[in-house]
Amino acid sequence: MVEVLRLNLNRVVNESYDILVGFGLFDRIPADLRDNPIGKRYAVITDSALKDVYGKRLLEELRDEGIDACLIDFPAGEESKNINTVIYIVKRLLECKIDRRSAVITLGGGVVGDVGGFAAAIYMRGIPYIQVPTTLLAQVDSSIGGKTAVDTEEGKNLIGSFHQPKRVYVDPSLLKTLPKREYLSGLAEVIKYGVIYDRNLFEYLEGNVEKIKNLDEEALLHIIKRSCMIKKEIVEEDPLEENKRSILNYGHTPAHAIERLSGYKCLHGEAVSVGMRISGWIAVKKGFWIMDEWERQNELLHSYGLPLKMDFNVDDLVRALYYDKKVEGGTLMFVLPKRIGEMASVNGRYRIPVPEEEVRRFLLELKNDY
Ligand code: GLY
Repeated sequence: MVEVLRLNLNRVVNESYDILVGFGLFDRIPADLRDNPIGKRYAVITDSALKDVYGKRLLEELRDEGIDACLIDFPAGEESKNINTVIYIVKRLLECKIDRRSAVITLGGGVVGDVGGFAAAIYMRGIPYIQVPTTLLAQVDSSIGGKTAVDTEEGKNLIGSFHQPKRVYVDPSLLKTLPKREYLSGLAEVIKYGVIYDRNLFEYLEGNVEKIKNLDEEALLHIIKRSCMIKKEIVEEDPLEENKRSILNYGHTPAHAIERLSGYKCLHGEAVSVGMRISGWIAVKKGFWIMDEWERQNELLHSYGLPLKMDFNVDDLVRALYYDKKVEGGTLMFVLPKRIGEMASVNGRYRIPVPEEEVRRFLLELKNDY
């Protein structure tokens, strides 16, 4: 005799939040938090490179506003994106007496946002956090949508959780101190939005190369706002990446493999650029996309100084592809463009299986060039 006690748990949660975008917003964060608080105290999490430039400034400005806050930093760089950094942050949060009525502020690029967000997701079973992205990549992509994660030796983002931030402050003026290479690398994600979702954005990027490369304020605000809008719409439709959200990973399956093979020496956006050329080629070979548009995509990436080729052994690359979270039942899955501004789907599914032999053949075709 078995008794069944059903625990009913149809939770309706409202996780909506504001993404604020504006030049000069950084210095207005403390006043905004005074007027619209997220926590009673704050822990600002940043990295060693940003601590002196922005971390201490934010801490002082918060304290000037009468807001209680502490500063936690960890070594800058992709190597810090691991579980040991999370454990270090948790210990520091305890020392700083951060409790469940407090909130974390992640101040930095993708690594800080992902690691700090994950620490917030698990600390005391989850406390609120705010994203203050300081790189283009983080401003247009990783700070929005609640993906938090760390890498393992085997691959990228293999430990993580969905934990939506309570607010995102995007100040494009912070990009003025960003190294040029990092800024250009972030543009790969903006070009990605053009290919996967917005032909107008793609054409705008084609028509304003010099302005965007030179951080013209009007052009920068336009591409950042449009990218945030696209990301927001896709996350609203599919927050847990059951289908549509996976289009945001265009080029990322090969990119993650390339990053792994390079020992994380190349920047994420650079790997995404190479990955878009590879995934785009697969789309062409599978008959989803026309060659002209693939070439147009590659030209746009090239015009922003982004790499299209990296020298890897095809077998190593194919092996590394299997560490991607999008592998389903041992089959490699790709998201593939259908036209600039729209992704292909098969039976309503955006993740499209491509057999390994085909992937290998397509990669070999590109090999002389890549
Ligand atoms: N960066 C991809 C996503 O947030 O889904």
